[in-house]
Amino acid sequence: MQERIGIIYGDTTSTSFNFASNRQVNRLDYVYVIHEGRKVLAQVREVRRISKLSFEKVFVEDTREEEEKISAAADVIGYNGRNGLCVPRTPFKQGDDVYKADEEIVRDVLGLGKKGAYIGLLKDMNIKVYLDINTLLQKHVSVLAKSGSGKSYAMGVIVEELIDHGVPVVVIDPHGEYSSMIHPNLDEKEIEMMKRFDVKPKGYGSNIVQYSPGNDANRESIPLRLDEINLELGDLMDVMSSKVTGVQKGILYQAIKEVRERKRIYLLEDIIDELKRAKSSAKWNLIPQLEELNDMGLFSADPTPIDELVCRGKCSIINFRGIPPHIQDVVVSHLLTKLFEERKKNSIPPFMVVIEESHRYCPERGQGGAISSEIIRTVASEGRKFGMGLAIVSQRPARVEKNVVSQCNTQIILKTTNPNDVKAIVASVEGLTAGAADEIQRLPIGMAIVSGLPINAPLFVEIRVRKSSHGGKAAKVVDEEKRAERRFPFRFGRQ
Ligand SMILES: Nc1ncnc2c1ncn2[C@@H]1O[C@H](COP(=O)(O)OP(=O)(O)O)[C@@H](O)[C@H]1O
Ligand SMILES: [Mg+2]
Repeated sequence: MQERIGIIYGDTTSTSFNFASNRQVNRLDYVYVIHEGRKVLAQVREVRRISKLSFEKVFVEDTREEEEKISAAADVIGYNGRNGLCVPRTPFKQGDDVYKADEEIVRDVLGLGKKGAYIGLLKDMNIKVYLDINTLLQKHVSVLAKSGSGKSYAMGVIVEELIDHGVPVVVIDPHGEYSSMIHPNLDEKEIEMMKRFDVKPKGYGSNIVQYSPGNDANRESIPLRLDEINLELGDLMDVMSSKVTGVQKGILYQAIKEVRERKRIYLLEDIIDELKRAKSSAKWNLIPQLEELNDMGLFSADPTPIDELVCRGKCSIINFRGIPPHIQDVVVSHLLTKLFEERKKNSIPPFMVVIEESHRYCPERGQGGAISSEIIRTVASEGRKFGMGLAIVSQRPARVEKNVVSQCNTQIILKTTNPNDVKAIVASVEGLTAGAADEIQRLPIGMAIVSGLPINAPLFVEIRVRKSSHGGKAAKVVDEEKRAERRFPFRFGRQ
C-alpha cells in the first residue's frame, strides 16, 4: 500500500526538493517519489512548521493553530538502476506525490542485503542492517568516535558476528576489555532491548582464548611468546632504551656477530654470555637490560604457534592490560608481521585483526612514531589480496595515520565532538553531506552513521544490543599503571 504523505512544491533540482504535508514528518524519514516511472528514494533533511501567526498578531488574536502545515526539505538518494545506485538527471516535478518509504524500497535502493554481519536497525525503521562478511575481510573497517560513545561496544557486535560466521579473529586489546565476551550479556536494561533487536544472551567461552605477553601474565591468559631464535640488533633495539649509546650499540653488534659465527641457532642468553666476554666496560650497563628482557619471557625458543592463534571458530584476544606501551608496540609489530607472512603462505585461514586504540599503533606522522606502524600500513594496503581484514578503532581519528584510515571501506562513525576529528572523519568518508558534521556531533549513544560497500549511502543505524557482556566499563587506568610497574620494573622503554 502506498501511503501518500505530501506534495512537492516550489523550486526543485535533481538532487533535492521541498514538499508540503499536513501530517507528522520527522527529520531523517525515508520517502519516495515516482519520477519518470521510477521510485526514487529521498531522505528528509529538515522539517519546518509553517505558520501565518506573526509576532504582532500574538498580542491581539487567538494564538492556537488550527492545522498542521509542514514543509519538509528532502535530499535525493536515488533509485536502484542496472549498475547499482543511480540519481535522476532531471529536476523533480512540482505537484507530484510524496510517499512514505516501505522496507522493500529502502532495502532495494540502499543495497541492504539480508545476510552477513547483523549490526543493528535502520533508524526509526524495523529494518535489520547487515554488513557483507567478505567485504569486511577484504576492504577493512574503521570505528571512529570520541571516548565513551560506544566504539568498543560496536566493535564487540562485529566480533560476535564474525565468530558466529566462523571467521577467526585476533583482537589487539590494550585495556583487556574484550575478555568479558566469554560471558553472556545479563545487563538488565540491555536484556529489555534484546526483543526489539531480535537477539539472545550468549557467551563465547568456547571460542575465546586470551594471550598476554610476559611471564606473570594474568591468570586467565596464556603467555604470548615471540620468536627468540636468532634475534638481530634491530629486534633488540626495538625493545631497549633509546638511551643506548653509540658505543653500547657497537659492542652489542659485535657480540651478535661473534655468536652468529659460532652458532647457527642462538638465543638471547647466548648474546648475553658473549657480551660478558667483551672487553669494553660499556657492557656493564647493557647486560642488566638484556637479562631483564630475558627474564621477562617476551621472547622464547618455543614461540606461540601462529596457527594456534588463528584457526576456525577461534577468537584470540591479545590482552595488553598492564603492559607498557613500548612492549605492546613491539609485540603488535612482530605478531602482525608473522600473521601476515603466514596468511600469504595460506597456512592460516582468512581472518580479521581488530586493533583497538589504533592511534597508539599507527599514529599519524608527527604524532610520535610507532614500530608497528609499518606492518599496519602494509596490511591496510595489501591485506585485501590475502584475506587478512583490518578493523581499526580509535577515539582520535585525526591522529591515526590517514593512509590506514582511507583504506577502510566500511566506516562506523559514532558521536564525535572534537573539530579536528570531525574534519578528519568528513574528509575520509565518501558520500557524507555538508550537514554531516553537525549530525556527527549530535549522535546519541548507540546511534551510528554507517557508510561503505555494498551499502550505497551513509545510513543512520541503531547499533544492536550485545549478545555477550561488554567489558568497557571496567578498565581503570591507575590500576593498570601500577600493575605495569610491578611486572616490568626496569624502565627500558623508548619514551
Ligand atoms: N549500542 C549500544 N547499546 C547500548 N549501550 C551502549 C551501546 N553503545 C554503547 N553503550 C554504552 O556506552 C558505554 C560506553 O561504550 P564503549 O563502547 O565502552 O565506549 P568507547 O567508545 O569508549 O569504546 C558502554 O559501557 C555501554 O553501556
Ligand atoms: Mg573503548
